[in-house]
Amino acid sequence: MALVPGIELLRRAYEEGYAVGSFNINNMEILQAILQAAEEEKSPVMIQTSQGAIKYAGAAYLAAMVKAGAEQVSVPVALHLDHGDDWKVALQCLRYGWTSLMYDGSHLPLEENIRETRRVVEMAHAVGVSVEGELGRISGVEEQVAVSEREAFFTDPEEAEIFVRETGVDYLAVSIGTAHGLYKGKPDLDFPRLEEIQRRVKIPIVLHGGSGVPEDQIKKAISLGVAKINIDTELRQAFLKTMREKLEENPNQLDPRKVLGPGRDAMVAVVKEKMRLFGSSGKAR
Ligand code: G3H
Ligand code: ZN
Repeated sequence: MALVPGIELLRRAYEEGYAVGSFNINNMEILQAILQAAEEEKSPVMIQTSQGAIKYAGAAYLAAMVKAGAEQVSVPVALHLDHGDDWKVALQCLRYGWTSLMYDGSHLPLEENIRETRRVVEMAHAVGVSVEGELGRISGVEEQVAVSEREAFFTDPEEAEIFVRETGVDYLAVSIGTAHGLYKGKPDLDFPRLEEIQRRVKIPIVLHGGSGVPEDQIKKAISLGVAKINIDTELRQAFLKTMREKLEENPNQLDPRKVLGPGRDAMVAVVKEKMRLFGSSGKAR
């Protein structure tokens, strides 16, 4: 299928009470693993690229690869820019065919975040592309967005209402206790805050730092309006652990496919498990 706008996937998920997984890619094997899992699960899916991934692989390469992959599956796929913080990169993505953009102005004061996010919304909506904004800071390290735990702060529901109204974003990333990367302890999400945010904004909510969040908390979050869940770390772990094992088994291996292939298989299993947990399995239409 051709790529679809992000909001098409998330509106349905939001209305029907499940979440779409948005998985980060940097190369072909990660993309193939996600699309294979989506096809086997009959699940809609979002493929996301950080600005770091674009710097690594190039926008033209990534877009061509994702479009080619999406055309080979029967499930709907959206291509999303994750944690964009530069309108020039957003514009580049629009040119190459991304169908969803995140503008992450969470490090900016509210007024500035609104102004910059609205600029991206106006640009993207003009060509039918949907936009994710972020309010409140999520701790941990995301490429180029490092936030110390001390600095991190949760999303204010009243500000969220103003932000959504003033920017026109299609979905909103919030800070309610998740973190990027590996959790040191068990995460403990602030559900009353999420409920209040949802009551005020009434649009799909995005949960960053989805790796390592316990199943019961994921399900509760979905029941309160979370319709997009970002997963990166668990894919990296599965990919690298398997590749490391394969290299240790045969340190003289000369065929990269013998290492990358099993790494890809390990990621398929992770993605399928997430799709079942998020309730998106069987929802492709
Ligand atoms: O934007 C990407 C995600 O928020 C990554 O979260 O590190 O828990 O996989 P993760
Ligand atoms: Zn994130």
